[in-house]
Amino acid sequence: MFNKFRLGKKQEHSSTLRDKIEELKKQPIPEHVAIIMDGNGRWAKKRALPRIAGHHEGMKVVRKTTMLANKLGIKALTLYAFSTENWKRPKNEVEYIMRLPEEFLGTFLPELVENNVQVKMIGYKNQLPVHTLHAIEKAIEETKDNNGLVLNFALNYGSRAEIIDAVKQVLNDSKNGILNENDLNEDVFSSYLMTSEFNDPDLLIRTSGEIRLSNFMLWQLAYSEFWFTDVLWPDFSEDHLLEAIEIFQKRQRRFGGVL
Ligand code: IPE
Ligand code: IPE
Ligand code: MG
Repeated sequence: MFNKFRLGKKQEHSSTLRDKIEELKKQPIPEHVAIIMDGNGRWAKKRALPRIAGHHEGMKVVRKTTMLANKLGIKALTLYAFSTENWKRPKNEVEYIMRLPEEFLGTFLPELVENNVQVKMIGYKNQLPVHTLHAIEKAIEETKDNNGLVLNFALNYGSRAEIIDAVKQVLNDSKNGILNENDLNEDVFSSYLMTSEFNDPDLLIRTSGEIRLSNFMLWQLAYSEFWFTDVLWPDFSEDHLLEAIEIFQKRQRRFGGVL
């Protein structure tokens, strides 16, 4: 209490944050956290700004969230950045979003490398503009030897399309004698999905008050814990992530069994 008065506001905040991180680390931290980063447009609208201002602000929150996830010892952070349905948006908005990976990685990549973060991506690469793909692939390449947090961008990702594609590959492998029908099980099917190298998310967070999945990881989220908040993505703070983890740690995961 005494220290609170002695320390400047900033210092006080960071030591509180550090204490909270240490406290949470005493209990299991979710290994894979997935976030539907929603509410950028509404954040901008509230301020009479164009929607793209919200996306720009949201990008800063990606950086803060990544750094905290890394500090917490989260193994994988999947961020839903653009869905296969988001192409329906106005052309200028889509173009702006497709510039963000370059802007984000242009300034942030050295920090990711330094902090041992590995960048990955799930989603349909072939429809992305060349400059967007180039920025992502550069980041993937430059961080491939890192073994800390995996920062996985879901970009032009859609879960139903992913499942259909997996089914097509299964049929093809079956036809070609690579896969026997009797060997197909849930684990094998998972290996046909874009997320084959990831464990299923332990925790799903969605911001902005929408209570839906919007075609995100329908298969992978079968037994994940969900945490929804009304906070708009650009307002999502370190404390919100810590709150989500704290709530996650209080949940009882039963996976259909009894404890
Ligand atoms: C999420 O924010 C970012 C993307 C979908 C790219 P939105 O742009 O969906 O923001 P709202 O939902 O319109 O407020
Ligand atoms: C989901 O948000 C996609 C991303 C956050 C990238 P949307 O804003 O596109 O979802 P809906 O349209 O409200 O369902
Ligand atoms: Mg939205």
